[in-house]
Amino acid sequence: MRGGVDINKKIRFVTSNEGKFGEAREILEGRGFEIERFDVGYPEIQSFELEEVANYGVKYLWEKFGGDLFLEDSGLFIDSLNGFPGVFSAYAFKTIGDEGILRLLSGNPDREAYFKSVISFCDEDGNSNLFSGVVRGRISEEECGKYGFGFDPIFLYGEETFAEISIEDKNKISHRRRALNDFIDWLEGR
Ligand code: IMP
Repeated sequence: MRGGVDINKKIRFVTSNEGKFGEAREILEGRGFEIERFDVGYPEIQSFELEEVANYGVKYLWEKFGGDLFLEDSGLFIDSLNGFPGVFSAYAFKTIGDEGILRLLSGNPDREAYFKSVISFCDEDGNSNLFSGVVRGRISEEECGKYGFGFDPIFLYGEETFAEISIEDKNKISHRRRALNDFIDWLEGR
């Protein structure tokens, strides 16, 4: 046992996104927790808050599959678009993609944006907890870089996009890293 969690039993990360899973595994394993990917669907309610979407999803999953599982809901929030695409990021990426976001911001000097990640974990007894992390940056003028996934090629952190830095470097500073750190601190402290 470690921090009330049986470390011989893997924590299940419910996601169909390989990019997210790879990032989370590296971070959790680096701190001694094993995770496995659990690729099952769950309803995503309509809400403007990642927290509400994540909390509803994890409760649904707990009722169906029991506990010690978590999911992560994330999004890109662009200041001058009043937070769009936000909770609709996955849909926006599938439909208009990086190019579409660049078009929406064409000629707009206000490129401020942030990624936010919300993790929701549910234990065997159905108790859920939320953890979140944010990283601020800017939307680039063009796509750059070959690493990562999703909006990484247009998200500038300093002078480089998330797709220009290695996954290891992104993992040191990303929104997901920050949410996972809080989650792991909590797991260890239970
Ligand atoms: P969801 O959390 O599965 O609903 O997906 C959120 C969407 O936000 C992803 O499909 C990506 O398009 C985008 N996103 C979230 N985190 C990242 C990231 O670290 N890099 C690039 N895009 C991201």
